[in-house]
Amino acid sequence: MTTASAQHQPLAGTIVAGAPLPSFQHIEVEPLSGACGCEVTGVDLTRPLAAEVLAEVMLAFEHFLVIMFRGQRLSVEQHKAFSRHFGEITELPQAPTYAGHSDMQEVRREADEPESVVPSFEHFHTDSPFLERPPLCIAMRALEVPRFGGDTAFANTYLVYEDLSAGLKRTLEGLQVVYSGKDIWSRNAKLAADKQLRLREHHGFSEEQLENIHPAVRSHPRTGRKGLYVTSAYFKRFVGWSEEESRALLTYLQSLPQRIQYHCRIRWRPDTLIVWDNRFLQHRGIHDYRGERRHLVRTTIMGERPR
Ligand SMILES: [Fe+2]
Repeated sequence: MTTASAQHQPLAGTIVAGAPLPSFQHIEVEPLSGACGCEVTGVDLTRPLAAEVLAEVMLAFEHFLVIMFRGQRLSVEQHKAFSRHFGEITELPQAPTYAGHSDMQEVRREADEPESVVPSFEHFHTDSPFLERPPLCIAMRALEVPRFGGDTAFANTYLVYEDLSAGLKRTLEGLQVVYSGKDIWSRNAKLAADKQLRLREHHGFSEEQLENIHPAVRSHPRTGRKGLYVTSAYFKRFVGWSEEESRALLTYLQSLPQRIQYHCRIRWRPDTLIVWDNRFLQHRGIHDYRGERRHLVRTTIMGERPR
């Protein structure tokens, strides 16, 4: 018999954000909250990393899901070189590219532009779930930041899943989601000019690559730890459910990552670099910097097919 408290016990050997804290010998690590996120110091990402330093950076990433480094003035090549430690850099069909690099994206809002130009989405979300192998992580660096606001917030979806009742977990077991990015360009074109997103105009992805079915709960390939993988961004429906039924459950599930106990929040400074896990976190930019410019650049690292 499973007791309520036993449901919250992690599987042996898994890593739990917050506790127990791993020990680090080669880097300094300061947690940002009890849910996720840490600041890493003692590392210069402009130089190749020693194997033991890199191993601890990866441990911090797996444990905290968001790792933040301050003062990293990286060239484009240095940014890409660090990104490749996490996996293969991938292009995205929808996000505007950076300075002629088709494998980098930029997140840019000019001081006089409306909020909608940068996709914040209304809710916390995971990036590009419509791809067959959605991003494992994103490595993002700030070039120019607002004098106030413009933070990015993250919610730990392992914790969201683990706090669900046994009954709802059973409902989600085997449930699959249709995610589609096929119609974002046509939908965007119909919006008023001041509501339109800045999207990538041309890409080499086929129509079929823009729609995929993924499980509502996914597991970490190494640890087996499960996280909720449901987000309203690009959501079409649950497989076998009507649109109306799907929306009702989606609305509830989407409300959960809003809870503040699952969060950490990054205040950007110029040359702040963060890497966040896009599989077991949801994120959103906070658009509270009216009249200010914000310019970030990123790489996206391809993940495994969710299971
Ligand atoms: Fe995003």
